[in-house]
Amino acid sequence: MPVVSPVRRATSLFENQFGSRPAALASAPGRVNLLGEHTDYNGGPVLPMALQRRTAVAVAPADRWEAVSADVGAPPTLDPAGPLRHDWTDYLVGVIRELAKIDAAPPGARIAVASSLPIGAGLSSSAALTVAAAEALSLLTGRRLGPAELAEVAYRAEHDHVGVRCGRMDQTIAARARRDTALLFETATGALSWVPLRERVWIVETAIAHRLTGGEFNTRRHECEVALARLRERWPELDHVAGVAPEVLETALQLLPPPLARRVRHVVSETVRTYAAADALVRGDMAAVGRLLVEGHESLRADFESTVPEADLIVSAAVRHGAWGARLTGAGWGGAVVVLAPPGREARVAAEISREFSARFGRHPVVWNSYAADGVRRERGTR
Ligand code: GLA
Repeated sequence: MPVVSPVRRATSLFENQFGSRPAALASAPGRVNLLGEHTDYNGGPVLPMALQRRTAVAVAPADRWEAVSADVGAPPTLDPAGPLRHDWTDYLVGVIRELAKIDAAPPGARIAVASSLPIGAGLSSSAALTVAAAEALSLLTGRRLGPAELAEVAYRAEHDHVGVRCGRMDQTIAARARRDTALLFETATGALSWVPLRERVWIVETAIAHRLTGGEFNTRRHECEVALARLRERWPELDHVAGVAPEVLETALQLLPPPLARRVRHVVSETVRTYAAADALVRGDMAAVGRLLVEGHESLRADFESTVPEADLIVSAAVRHGAWGARLTGAGWGGAVVVLAPPGREARVAAEISREFSARFGRHPVVWNSYAADGVRRERGTR
C-alpha cells in the first residue's frame, strides 16, 4: 500500500481547514530501537534508527491557537494555559509551553498535523510529533533551534507535561538521526555516535496498542528506582542501574527481591548487548546483530516482563524462517517487532511470520519495511 506523503497531507489539511497556506512546515521520523530497551532512564546506551515514515506539522501565525490532525479527531481550539485535554493535543501544548520558556513560541498559531506512522504502535509517533512541532513553531518566531534544543523541548513536553516518565531516546533520535545509520546514544554522558546501517529493517505490528501514560511503563521505571536505592546502600557511588558492572552483577542480584533482581539483570545485560550490537554494525556483522536482538527479546520476556505473546510468536517465527534476528522494539506491552533478515530471504520471512501469526491469532499482522532515515527537517510547501 503506497504511503501518501505526510507533508502533502498536512499541507492540504491546513489549506482546507484554515483557508490559507502554511507559513512553515517541518517533519520528523518515527524510530525503531535495535537494542538498549529500558536503558535510557537507567543511564545505559540505546541504539535506535529513524524510520522513513514521518509526522509533518504545517503552521502559520495567528492570534490564538488552533490545531487539527489528519489522523485523530479532536476539537480544534487549544488553550496552552488551560488544563490538558488528555488527547493528542497535550503533546502540542507541552511543546508550546516549553518553547515559551525559551522565547521560541509564537503568541498563537494554526497547526495541521499528518503522519504516516501508526499511532500507539511503539514506533515513537509522539516524539515525531513533538520534535516536528517544536521545529515548525519555533520557525515562526525566526529562532532556529539546534537539534539538541529541539530534543530537549520535545522530551520536556512528554515527560513534564504529558506525564510519561520516558527517557530521552525517542526525542533524541527524532532530532538527530542521520540516513543509513543507527545512533549509539550513551545516556549517562550524552555521547552520540552514528554507526553504519544500510540494511532494510522490517516492522511487524502486533496491533496491540500500548498506552504509555498507562501504568506498566511508569511502574517499571519506579521498580528500577527502588532497585537503585537498594544497590546504593552497598555501592553509594552508583549513579544508575546501568552502572552496575557485569562482574558484580551476581552480588547485586542477591541484594534484591526477585522481581527487582530480574529488572536489574535486564538493564545490565542489555547494556552489554547494546555496545556489542554497535560494534557488530561497525564490522557489518549482521548475523551477530541478529543474535543480540534475539537475546534482547528473551531478556525483555523473562526479566523485564514487557513482551506480549503476539511479539514472542513473531520473533520465534522470524528466527525459524531464516531471519538474522528479531525483537520487540520500544516500550513494549504491545507495539511492534523489528526483524532483520538477509536480503533474498526477507519476503519469505515476512510471509511466514504472517502465516503463523494469523494461524494463531486469527488476523494478519501489518508488515512493512524501512531504511534508516534522517531526523527532523524543515520542509518546503508542496506547491
Ligand atoms: C519508550 C520511552 C523511551 C524508552 C523506551 C524503552 O519509548 O519513551 O524513553 O524508555 O520506551 O526503551
